[in-house]
Amino acid sequence: MQEQIKNTNTLEELQALYTATFGKNGTMTAKLKNMKNLDNDARAELNRENTVLRELFKSRQAEIENSVMMAALASQRMDATLAPLPENRGTLHPLTQALSDVSVILESFGYEMWTGPEVEDDWHNFTALNTPEYHPARDMQDTFFLENGNVMRTQTSAIQIRSMDARGAPIKMFGIGATYRKEMDATHSPMFHQIEGLYIDTNITMSDLIADVHEFLKRFFNMDNIELRVRPSYFPFTEPSIEIDMKWRGNKWMEIMGAGMVHPNVLRNCNIDPEQYQGFAFGFGWDRLAMLKYGLNDIRQFYDGDIRWLRATGF
Ligand code: PHE
Repeated sequence: MQEQIKNTNTLEELQALYTATFGKNGTMTAKLKNMKNLDNDARAELNRENTVLRELFKSRQAEIENSVMMAALASQRMDATLAPLPENRGTLHPLTQALSDVSVILESFGYEMWTGPEVEDDWHNFTALNTPEYHPARDMQDTFFLENGNVMRTQTSAIQIRSMDARGAPIKMFGIGATYRKEMDATHSPMFHQIEGLYIDTNITMSDLIADVHEFLKRFFNMDNIELRVRPSYFPFTEPSIEIDMKWRGNKWMEIMGAGMVHPNVLRNCNIDPEQYQGFAFGFGWDRLAMLKYGLNDIRQFYDGDIRWLRATGF
């Protein structure tokens, strides 16, 4: 019997032998059933045989299982030097990264982040911003008008109005969001993004504006020395109005943002007394700033959803 167990080669053979031995009609089962008719010595001998056989079955099973596994390992060889499959981690979109950089800086200056609706009424997008009916910014060429007279927000300046309406003065905020204009080429997309700061309090001057912008740009671009150029400009909602250029690589002047002292009419439109409060606003293209910082040259790529581009430029 013990020899028979040792001679089995497969689990099936072993199972068959086990059944023939310990199964319902097995040889050992029959002997065990007869135990009560045996004398003490014969009983002890049968118990011993029972234990030995069960142990043998168990150890033979382990042996066969082990040799099956070894055979499998030998036939299915694994090459531990193969390169692993690429791990596709998600990345942050460059705009998301830029906003996170911008907001960390502006919030450290005390500006609070605001958003507003992308579909605006005429009042918030134009009239309250001192933009009269005849102003070219309202031209059909630039603005997407909706049938009900509302517009797709053309500038985040609309958020200024909403924040002053809600809070009054003093206020220190920045508005962020998508803006829409009818234009499209490598540097213009019909949907783009702006970020705009506003600081209204008593005794705020143009120097405060330039100091904040200067410090902001230094930190955003991680540059110790930055050269700015301030040019007079025109926006209906600021007076005086300026444009700020920054000296970029290769000594090229790049226009970075529009800014100015908030026009008294704008303050009045938000029920703020311009005799008591003054302040400044500055606005820039969120996409444009991200393009400059990360060396990207086509704004349309931001919105193509091309995963290869994102992998190459993302963070
Ligand atoms: N809203 C202006 C634009 O879209 C930018 C601007 C913001 C200018 C705030 C002055 C003050 O061009």
